[in-house]
Amino acid sequence: MEAIHTVAWMKQVTRQARAEDRLLGFIPTMGALHEGHYSLVRQAQQQCSPVVVSIFLNPKQFAPTEDLKRYPRPFEADRAALEKLGVDYLFAPPVEEMYPKGFSTAVFVEGLSDRLEGRTRPGHFRGVTTVVMKLFEIVQPRFAYFGRKDAQQVRIIQQMAADLDLDTQVVVSPIVREANGLALSSRNVYLKDGDRQAATALYRSLEAVRREIAAGELDAARLIVALRKVLDAQPGVTADYAEIVDARTFDPVTAIRRKCLVLIAAFVGGTRLIDNALVEPEGEGFRVTL
Ligand code: PAJ
Repeated sequence: MEAIHTVAWMKQVTRQARAEDRLLGFIPTMGALHEGHYSLVRQAQQQCSPVVVSIFLNPKQFAPTEDLKRYPRPFEADRAALEKLGVDYLFAPPVEEMYPKGFSTAVFVEGLSDRLEGRTRPGHFRGVTTVVMKLFEIVQPRFAYFGRKDAQQVRIIQQMAADLDLDTQVVVSPIVREANGLALSSRNVYLKDGDRQAATALYRSLEAVRREIAAGELDAARLIVALRKVLDAQPGVTADYAEIVDARTFDPVTAIRRKCLVLIAAFVGGTRLIDNALVEPEGEGFRVTL
């Protein structure tokens, strides 16, 4: 694996891959890698060569009050893990390389970016789309891999790719979870022992929705009541939002009729976690994927 720290060098490599008509696969990350990230790498390796992973802790997507300062940065361990997985290139630019003095451009997807995560975290998606657009320009991937864990993020990136006619196909990968259901996240390291158990309430609340839907309940308000009953019963967990939205528009639905997402965010101790379930028509009913 070759580690690359400058934009110019990365562009050289990607230009070469394009010239050779190779299928370059790309996984953008902020580091503190776990099985969720590794699953994206493995999926890319099935479909692409070369595979490029970026590690860039993007300051633009953190509000001043958020956890940029304490976000875990185990760079050496990450590098070794990617090497072991057989990744071809690691792109890890310093902040000044990505945002030199005077940097003043932003990419913003209207509408989708203001809701849900965007409401609690104003400016967050503006930072995400700006960095992902810049990374796509540098890496020029044919395929880019994102986790459904961050369902709104991937939907916004798909919209950006469509609106700007990007040559990158956005691939969405399943959520990787611990045995107890907790979705893997770089932020899980913030959870203390008791918090880790409490945090499974997010998964359990989505399971409750799955059970209700299997029993034929399709009314969104009643499904949210079932979900909130689990979340609110868990000491140490405070819900931020719980909504059922159309999977394409992210508008709230009153009843499940087509492909939807059940989206939740909650504070566990001082840590904000998100999770979701995908609801898709299947036969006469609906399949719920956690
Ligand atoms: P990061 O949180 O490091 O996540 C990188 C990618 O890994 C994202 O596509 C995310 O959805 C995916 N991922 C995280 N946890 C996962 C899990 N448990 N299962 C499956 N996939 C998972 O998301 C970002 O970084 C940043 O916003 C980024 C896109 C890199 C822009 O800075």
